[in-house]
Amino acid sequence: MLRVGIWGCGGISAQHRRAYQKLEETGVPVKLVALCDINPENFNREIKINTSSITDEPLIRVDNCYTDIDEMLEKENLDLVDICLPTFLHKDAVIKALAKDINVLVEKPMASTEEECEEMIAAAHKSKGQLMVGHLVRFYESTAYLKSIVDSGKYGKLVAGDFTRLSALPAWRIKKGKEYTNRADGVIFDMHLHDIDLVQYIFGIPKQISAVSSGKISYCDSVTTTFVYDDAFVTVRGDWGYPQSFPFKALWRVKFEEATIYCDQTGKVTLYEDEGSTTLDQIHVNGGIYEEIEYFVNLLLNGGKNEINPPESTLETIKLIDAVGKSAENGGMTIVIE
Ligand SMILES: NC(=O)c1ccc[n+]([C@@H]2O[C@H](COP(=O)([O-])OP(=O)(O)OC[C@H]3O[C@@H](n4cnc5c(N)ncnc54)[C@H](O)[C@@H]3O)[C@@H](O)[C@H]2O)c1
Repeated sequence: MLRVGIWGCGGISAQHRRAYQKLEETGVPVKLVALCDINPENFNREIKINTSSITDEPLIRVDNCYTDIDEMLEKENLDLVDICLPTFLHKDAVIKALAKDINVLVEKPMASTEEECEEMIAAAHKSKGQLMVGHLVRFYESTAYLKSIVDSGKYGKLVAGDFTRLSALPAWRIKKGKEYTNRADGVIFDMHLHDIDLVQYIFGIPKQISAVSSGKISYCDSVTTTFVYDDAFVTVRGDWGYPQSFPFKALWRVKFEEATIYCDQTGKVTLYEDEGSTTLDQIHVNGGIYEEIEYFVNLLLNGGKNEINPPESTLETIKLIDAVGKSAENGGMTIVIE
């Protein structure tokens, strides 16, 4: 039985709690046994964020709740710590758990800087515990489908791609008003990062990047990034500055030499060829968090290599995010990726 503790019980943790519950209900030997948060009010209430507003299911009750992480780690004999803390705390939290040889899942972004990510990877190499970063979009069925097409070369080379993610301003950002200066508070490091990660996971590291944004990186709400590959380019659009009534949208369109594949905002994927189009009914967007947790739990229980989401790969995303910020701060300057 894999014993799990969640560290940080804010908005996103509710989806993690439901994932462990569902896995346990389906007979997987895993159990969420403990929670830790500095604010005890958060143990049994749900904080709504955009993505967690999709269900009214009650939260799984967890009896062993701690406000002190050292106490939780000492008493609970955990196999996995699931870190849902604010990003600026990720590095120290991950290193603390790995130093005790406990496996760690940490929410995205991996950490605030490239250097912090490298420290985390070094700690993972020294530990008997494994580290995985929660990039949920890598676990969508539509992502797996697109990656299989790219890897097989079935429809020829990539020509161009467009990835878009749009939403109203998140509630926590409205609350912060203009008082935010941390770059994790801007759209680039938060929402845009999902597609930067997706594009590098699917198509690899680009030769160069350029980006334009609507304002200072620490609080910009609107950004467009272009990834340049050999004879191909991919544009990535992120904007969370829309009015509150504007519905969340995430969609992509990829043009290959012999076909175009389109994923609409419901996650439905359609393949367009000169002879006609085919909608792939079986492809849909799942929550992502359930699938990422299921994947990691299976790796921990059954062994095997993390092919989808190793930390060395998520570090590359943080490096690309740095390049996006640098380009946007310099009016769209081209950044050559080494
Ligand atoms: N995968 C996704 O799509 C997605 C979506 C939202 C958030 N996230 C990520 O998840 C992380 C958490 O985001 P959130 O929206 O849940 O934040 P949040 O602010 O709602 O929750 C953070 C929780 O951590 C607690 N906390 C803060 N400092 C602590 C400490 N020292 N010890 C114990 N508890 C502490 C807070 O009390 C709060 O309950 C961030 O890294 C964020 O980027 C990912």
